[in-house]
Amino acid sequence: IIIDEHEAMARLVAGRIATLMRERAAAGRSIVLGLATGSTPIGVYRELIRLHREEGLSFSHVISFNLDEYYPMSPDSIHSYHRFMWENLFSHVDIDPGNVHIPDGALERSAIDDACGRYEAAILAAGGVDFQLLGIGKTGHIGFNEPGSGEHSRTRIVHLDSVTRRDAAADFFGEENVPREAITMGIATILQAREIAILATGEHKSGVVRRSVEGEIDRAVAATFLQRHPNTTFYVDDAAAADL
Ligand code: GLP
Repeated sequence: IIIDEHEAMARLVAGRIATLMRERAAAGRSIVLGLATGSTPIGVYRELIRLHREEGLSFSHVISFNLDEYYPMSPDSIHSYHRFMWENLFSHVDIDPGNVHIPDGALERSAIDDACGRYEAAILAAGGVDFQLLGIGKTGHIGFNEPGSGEHSRTRIVHLDSVTRRDAAADFFGEENVPREAITMGIATILQAREIAILATGEHKSGVVRRSVEGEIDRAVAATFLQRHPNTTFYVDDAAAADL
């Protein structure tokens, strides 16, 4: 879907999420949302907050799983995805903090593998992700699945690509401060979601959008694996769509 106005894009995506949330609430069941960080989904979160405040959209039955977190990273650091999610969404809605799941960047290294296994198990125990929101990095990463990530990959610790670290440099006041690793859901974890929305805006994303949508499925660009998913919608503005 090519939609140039960013607020309209955010309303469309948030509207779809709200519809699913209301359907589940009406059936007395919980809903599992897979959530993303980065600047692109902020508008969607803003719209969901508006729907909560003005239209009574309740998050009381939402279970959330975030894609990724830097490693090492303290949850209360200004750079943590943990903090990002509370500031941009969770603090403003009625979600039960016990239903929020974000990979823990503060673990001892020796505890990471077990924690990743438990993260996968928790997603399954919750019934699987109903709706997964994604952004895309310049390397084509979804979550932090950098080039080389295979389609069977699961939640794990990964090395960040130098392009990704350079892109994050401004947020961290210098590339040398950007963590070298991250914990991320895998490609297989993401592809298990029943419905996926991936958002990209701006001309700097046009090359990777073309490669993701029209290129061969290839572990050099993780987002190409979404071509195999039966229910994924790519939302792009005119600039990000320019090379399609
Ligand atoms: C980070 C996140 C990704 C996100 C990407 C793009 O690398 N881990 O989930 O998609 O940044 O960020 P932005 O939306 O700010 O362009």
